[in-house]
Amino acid sequence: MIGNFIYHTPTKMYFGRDSIKFLPEIVEKYGKNVLLTYGGGSIKKSGLYDKVKKLLADHNIVELSGIEPNPKYDPSVVTGAKLCKENAVDVILSVGGGSVLDCSKAISACAMYDGEGWDLISGKVKAKEALPVVDIITLAATGSEYDSGCVISNTALCDKRAYVDDLLYPVASILDPEYTFSVSKWQTACGTSDAINHVLEQFFAYPSSSFNDGVMISAIDSLMNNVLTALRDPDDYEARSELMYVCSWGCNGILANGSGYSGWPMHSIEHALSAYFDITHGAGLAIITPRWMKEILSEKTVERFVTLGKGLFGLGDDLDGFDAANRVIDRFFAFFESIGIPMSLEKLGVKADKIDEMADHILEYDSTDEPWMFAPLDKAALKRILEASM
Ligand code: NZQ
Ligand code: ZN
Repeated sequence: MIGNFIYHTPTKMYFGRDSIKFLPEIVEKYGKNVLLTYGGGSIKKSGLYDKVKKLLADHNIVELSGIEPNPKYDPSVVTGAKLCKENAVDVILSVGGGSVLDCSKAISACAMYDGEGWDLISGKVKAKEALPVVDIITLAATGSEYDSGCVISNTALCDKRAYVDDLLYPVASILDPEYTFSVSKWQTACGTSDAINHVLEQFFAYPSSSFNDGVMISAIDSLMNNVLTALRDPDDYEARSELMYVCSWGCNGILANGSGYSGWPMHSIEHALSAYFDITHGAGLAIITPRWMKEILSEKTVERFVTLGKGLFGLGDDLDGFDAANRVIDRFFAFFESIGIPMSLEKLGVKADKIDEMADHILEYDSTDEPWMFAPLDKAALKRILEASM
C-alpha cells in the first residue's frame, strides 16, 4: 500500500558529462557575488577549480577552502557565514564532496541569521531564510546534492547534528560522473556503503509497498555491482554514473514515499561515533549494519529480511525466515569486507570505554527509542550493537 505523503524536491539536477557548461547561466540567476567553497585540495588536483574560475571569470569570487570531512561548525561554518555577510554574497557555490556541500548549506542559513549559528543547526531556532546554494558534487555518497539536510560537527560540544530544513535544498546540482574518477578506493567504498545504508534505513519500515521495495532493492543491487567495477576500473563511466545517480536518491524521501518511517537508527549511532572519533561516515555505517540487523531480527521484523533476501540475493522459499535473515546479514558483512572496509570499529580507532557515554548521547540527541519506530533501540540495545561492532 502507498500511504499519504507530500513530496517536493525543488533542486534542479544537471546530470552527465560536461554538465558544468550550464554553470554560468545557473549562477547568473542569483547574482555576481559568489562564495566558492571547497575542501582540502582535490578540486585543484583534478583541474575542476581552474575550470570553475574560468567559467565564472566575470563574477566576484570569495573563497572558503579547507572544509574537512565531517565538517566543523567552528571554524568552517562560522567563517563562511562571516565571509557572506562581509562580502554581500548572493550565492554559494560548493565544489566537492558531501562535507563541503553540507558545510555550505549550513553557511547559507547562518549567513542570514544575526545570532549564534549553532542555534539554527541544533534546532533551537528555525531559520527564516537562506542564501541559494549551487553545487558541483565530486563524490557519490551522501545524496546531499538532492536533499534538504546537512550534518555538522561541533567539536567543542562533541556533537554531530543532522540539520534538516526545506530552505537547505540546493537550487541546482551539477553531477558529472567523470569528476568522481579520481575518488580513492577507500572513499568509493565508504560512499557506496553510505548510500546502501540510506536505502536500508528506509527499507526496514512498516507499512511497506511492493513498488518502493522493488525500487530500493534495485538501488542496492546497482550500488553493490557497480562499486565492484569502479574499484577495479576507477574510470569506468557506466559504473560511476550508476553510483552517482543512485546515491543522489538516498536521503530526499523519494525511496519511501507512502511507506512507514524507520527513524534512521544506524545513522543516529554513526553520528555519535563520528562526533567522538571523527571516523569516515560510510565505514562506520558498514560496520554497524550487520550488527544492527542482528539486534532487530525478531518475529516482527523477519518478513522484511525475507523480502530483501529474495529480491536482492535470490534466496528461495525453502528457507525458514530466520535462516534467510541470517544469510542476508552474512551477505552484507561479507560484501562490506570485500570492498575493503575493516569490519571492526576498533580498527577505526573507536575506544570501547566510550560506549556507555555514546549510548546516552544517542538517546539524548537522536532518541532511537520512539514507539513509532520500526525497531526502537533502548540504551541496552545501543550498547549491544556498539559492543558487537568493536
Ligand atoms: O577535501 P577534498 O580535498 O576535496 O577531499 C575529499 C575528502 O578528503 C575527497 N574527495 C571528494 N571528492 C573527490 C575527493 N578526492 C578525490 N577526487 C574527488 N573527486 O574525499 C574525502 C571525503 O569527502 P567528504 O565530502 O567528507 O565525503 P562524503 O561525500 O562521503 O561526505 C561525508 C559527510 O556527509 C555527511 C556525513 O555525516 C559526513 O559528514 N552526510 C550527509 C548527508 C546529507 N547531507 O544528506 C547524509 C549522510 O547520511 C551523511 O551523514
Ligand atoms: Zn549517510
